[in-house]
Amino acid sequence: MNGQPALSKTPRHVAIIMDGNGRWAQRQGLPRLAGHRAGVNNIRRILEAAVEFGIPILTIYAFSTENWKRPSLEVKGLMMLFEEAFYRELSEMKAKGVQIRHLGMTEGVSPKLQRLLRDAVEQTRHNTRLVLNVAFNYGGRAEIVEAVKKIVAEGCRAEDVTEDVISRHLGTAGLPDPDLVIRTGGDQRLSNFLIWQANYAEYYVTSKYWPDFDRDELYTALRAFDERDRRFGRVHVATAADGYTDMVGD
Ligand code: IPE
Ligand code: IPE
Ligand code: MG
Repeated sequence: MNGQPALSKTPRHVAIIMDGNGRWAQRQGLPRLAGHRAGVNNIRRILEAAVEFGIPILTIYAFSTENWKRPSLEVKGLMMLFEEAFYRELSEMKAKGVQIRHLGMTEGVSPKLQRLLRDAVEQTRHNTRLVLNVAFNYGGRAEIVEAVKKIVAEGCRAEDVTEDVISRHLGTAGLPDPDLVIRTGGDQRLSNFLIWQANYAEYYVTSKYWPDFDRDELYTALRAFDERDRRFGRVHVATAADGYTDMVGD
């Protein structure tokens, strides 16, 4: 693998907050939209790297429910770029065996983009090489509210509500929770991304702006993940006095 040491554990599910497009553009005196264009183009590069590293599930935060609050010209530009990307990339996604899923709401999205999203999901549903969740018009709290509405509408009794029931009513139903959440652009926050699912994810923040985040940056993030000690609330027995060999509580 390019002379780089192999990874001992590969996350099953990597989620990325693709942040920093605007600053990437501004740094070189370009309009913010040029950054968004470079950002959308970068998705293909990272998708290829994810396949190379054997990551089965990738979730990308493309547009949040809060991003509607941006100037309307920027929002329009972003929508145009997403439309273009779906037109341009769908056949390649199909050929590569990528299964596209949509996380988020369709409300507020133009009928054209809704159709493109629906087609992309529909036409790739049987692909198995890599699942690509596109978090578009996505908000973690809104997702939980929608899940609760569905659970109530199904007549679920209070005593039957479990964590598993809630998980099964989210957009990520049936998928494992993310093991690793990467945020580019340096900010250390979730910005309403996967707030339920990422409860035990490892976090990795890089100051690199998203358009500059390449294969080697992804590898560096995966290496950092490799070195993390995930305890899930338990204790390691190596540190316990009584000398078990595995984690206590399995
Ligand atoms: C992320 O880049 C893309 C979207 C939120 C759509 P930003 O546009 O937030 O870039 P910065 O954070 O302003 O640099
Ligand atoms: C998070 O980035 C949303 C996406 C990357 C799509 P933002 O730039 O919107 O987040 P804040 O506003 O800095 O929290
Ligand atoms: Mg930002």
